[in-house]
Amino acid sequence: MTDSIISMRGIGKRFGAVQALNAVSFDVKRGDLIAICGENGAGKSTLMKILSGVITQYEGDLLVDGQAVHFAGTRDAENAGISIIHQELNLVEQLSVAANVFLGREKKKGLLFRDDSAMQREAAELLRQLECNVSPSALAGTLRVGDQQLVEIAKALSIQSRILVMDEPTSALTESEVARLYRVIAKLREQGTTILYISHKMDEVFHLSNEIIVLRDGRFISQLMTSETNPSEIARLMVGREIESLDLGVKTQRGKKLLSVKNLSLVWPGHARGYRLKDISFELHEGEVLGIAGLMGAGRTELLECLFGASQLPPTGEICLEGKQIRPRHPSEALDAGMALVTEDRKRLGIFTAMHVGRNISICELSSMRSGPAVNARNERAASNSMVSKLQIKTAGLHAAITSLSGGNQQKCIIGRWLLTKPKVLLLDDPTRGVDVGAKAELYRIIRQLCAEGLGVIVTSSEMPEILTLSDRVMVLSEGRQTALFSREEATQEKILHAATLGWQVSESKS
Ligand SMILES: Nc1ncnc2c1ncn2[C@@H]1O[C@H](COP(=O)(O)OP(=O)(O)OP(=O)(O)O)[C@@H](O)[C@H]1O
Ligand SMILES: [Mg+2]
Repeated sequence: MTDSIISMRGIGKRFGAVQALNAVSFDVKRGDLIAICGENGAGKSTLMKILSGVITQYEGDLLVDGQAVHFAGTRDAENAGISIIHQELNLVEQLSVAANVFLGREKKKGLLFRDDSAMQREAAELLRQLECNVSPSALAGTLRVGDQQLVEIAKALSIQSRILVMDEPTSALTESEVARLYRVIAKLREQGTTILYISHKMDEVFHLSNEIIVLRDGRFISQLMTSETNPSEIARLMVGREIESLDLGVKTQRGKKLLSVKNLSLVWPGHARGYRLKDISFELHEGEVLGIAGLMGAGRTELLECLFGASQLPPTGEICLEGKQIRPRHPSEALDAGMALVTEDRKRLGIFTAMHVGRNISICELSSMRSGPAVNARNERAASNSMVSKLQIKTAGLHAAITSLSGGNQQKCIIGRWLLTKPKVLLLDDPTRGVDVGAKAELYRIIRQLCAEGLGVIVTSSEMPEILTLSDRVMVLSEGRQTALFSREEATQEKILHAATLGWQVSESKS
């Protein structure tokens, strides 16, 4: 038996004009945790889709345990002990958590009947191992992204895979959830599972992996022992040049007051706490970035949804934009008032899979591009192209299918869409999730540039360094309450974490 559990030999994959992978060869030893690094569009997800039977047409050879295999589908790969947790969440929203875990492998009572209670029991046990406390009978579509991701992991665990592919598994998780995932990964490795792990986060690559593979423009660049390299070498190999540092240097001038929020509250019927948000008050000025920090469930997304008229129930309290009180009951009203929201869950709320790249960018601005009853194609193209070049979106063209773009590039399309609406206040919910280091620096620069043009930005992030880099002020939420508001100078990782972990009882008794 060979030492290698996986061998890739000259793997190539072309999508139309795009050579996504080009003669990629490498070996993975049994029990290894291999990190796969590369810029947005480097070919990481494509390579892993070939390994896990999602993509079946490709060049080259794939060997598992030294045997050549060619999977005809994911079921084949699963039978060979390989599962994948996708970058874009893949749950069926209308089905329960348990039904998703056992999808296509439903447990039966006798020959005909589904054994729902057995599935619920086993799903509950898997979720318990993942320290995830959602009910197995909850509908998958009602869960937050972080919990959905854990359900995907439970699904892979239920197959008892020997080889597990994780495509940016922590991109939607908060720091405490990441710690929980690390514990799960450690357990899996003790059991001998081989893990291929795609990530843009260097700290996690260096914490978890024993080897690192770097891809660039579809080519294999290098395979290194983690202990013999460092994050800046990996970043350099990824982009093929030195990257600019994330230090943003010049600060923008704070202008006039744009937004003021007073005692914003959102009820939570049927929950012991009674509210999702309580008495949130803050101001936002032109040229300012307000960061919102907090753990998963703190209310960050809910707050942005209230401002954007997208909350399930209407909030109470006061929202004033440029001195005028607004009560957006629908996103279109918020949009008209000058707000734009980039959501955290781009697959569900962001991209329109049936439309090409150009229309995905222009969709919110079509009405301003009409000449007569029809959309002026030239104006639309110009608008979309301006964002493709401003945000350096990697696409075969405006007519490419949005689903053909890599995850990070899809995210840039959505940001471009909202920038086209020329908002006064831009709400960004975890905007750089899955965006590579180079593009991240670029986005930070763009956010700064927009601020210099007079925009106000509210940004949430699950990455603390991002909050600290971007924000002029940092508001911390904990269990729906505002527990701190720091200036840029005051804010430190420790102070933010402390404020984020103050329970609601603590802040309740203080007020
Ligand atoms: N189904 C598809 N149709 C057409 N082109 C595709 C398809 N899937 C991927 N591509 C293209 O192949 C290239 C590699 O994409 P891939 O998704 O593998 O990148 P990635 O390294 O995972 O990037 P990211 O970090 O952004 O997720 C990209 O140029 C992408 O646009
Ligand atoms: Mg990818």
